[in-house]
Amino acid sequence: MPKSVTKVFGILTSGGDAPGLNAAIRGVARTAIEIYGMRAVGFENGYRGLMENRARVLQPPEFSGILAQGGTILGTSREKPFKDKIGAYGSDSPSAVDAIKENYRKNGLDCLVVLGGNGTNTTGARLAEEGLNVIGLPKTIDNDIVETDITFGFHTALCVATDAIDRLHSTASSHNRVMVIEVMGHKAGWLALYSGVAGGGDVILLPEIPYDIKTIARHLEDRSRHGKTFSIVVVAEGALSREEAMMDKKTFKKSRAEMSGSIGYRVAREIEAETGMESRVTVLGYLQRGGTPVAFDRVLASQFGTAAANMLALGDYGKMVALQDNRLVGVPLAKVANRIKSVPLDHRMLETARDVGTCLGD
Ligand code: F6P
Repeated sequence: MPKSVTKVFGILTSGGDAPGLNAAIRGVARTAIEIYGMRAVGFENGYRGLMENRARVLQPPEFSGILAQGGTILGTSREKPFKDKIGAYGSDSPSAVDAIKENYRKNGLDCLVVLGGNGTNTTGARLAEEGLNVIGLPKTIDNDIVETDITFGFHTALCVATDAIDRLHSTASSHNRVMVIEVMGHKAGWLALYSGVAGGGDVILLPEIPYDIKTIARHLEDRSRHGKTFSIVVVAEGALSREEAMMDKKTFKKSRAEMSGSIGYRVAREIEAETGMESRVTVLGYLQRGGTPVAFDRVLASQFGTAAANMLALGDYGKMVALQDNRLVGVPLAKVANRIKSVPLDHRMLETARDVGTCLGD
């Protein structure tokens, strides 16, 4: 058996779930346990389980048959331990962070492996500052984690969204309608952009490019003049208008609180008002996160997982596993923390979208 610096590690999944989490858990645990002889302690429901010491030693049979399963066998939550400064469980109780440190010690951990998105890896970075050994893995359907070319979960969501756009085409065509489809992505428009290009969306709206409804209306009317009887509009849930982009945070929040329905509904209302074209809305929601991961995500998550186990063996802590130019690397968690990977305005996929005649709302 090869030597390993890490003897015992903890593992948790945190934040919104994403297809590929189980494949990643399996990748880490199988390699760590069966190749290096480590002991794996799983914490339930993300950082909450670590705060409350809901832990179990993971045994190899648990990883059989989970590669293709959606969700996470460990459960997840959006718990943010650094939000609770003191007394997470009443003023006399230790802070969430103290509880985490105590449970890390109690379980004899040499390192904690955290699988999650921006919030999870940012918390991981802060725990590393507090003296814990941490390794992160990049998971999110939003693909908005910096320092990695791709995150696992993204491709599955992309396939679901593309399939939905394909299906909307026939009904849009039968009824001569504008079909608005809202996909996930609050802060970054990767999913809207890629599914919009893959599904042949006529308009794609991203948080990175504030839209002008008049530009969209002109584009749709132009299509209609050229004999196109229907149109597909792909909207990221974080899309916003030019007017909104100029608002301060407070005014923006207030105007959104007063908005009826999500952004997809507003865009449909605006299109109807501007063009008179009959419009309908589909909000894809959690279908994008549920279900079995596509082959690409299984492979990517397995690679990330096994790479994390090799990092555990080397004692290469304080890093997030990442894919850069097709190479698996470890990047310092501090470089990932508190950052979002938006779609750069000179990204080649934006160019592709424009080249095939898609309106990006600007
Ligand atoms: O995981 C990221 C994400 O899918 C976002 O695109 C979305 O806004 C968010 O999760 C919603 O998740 P929840 O309702 O679970 O907080």
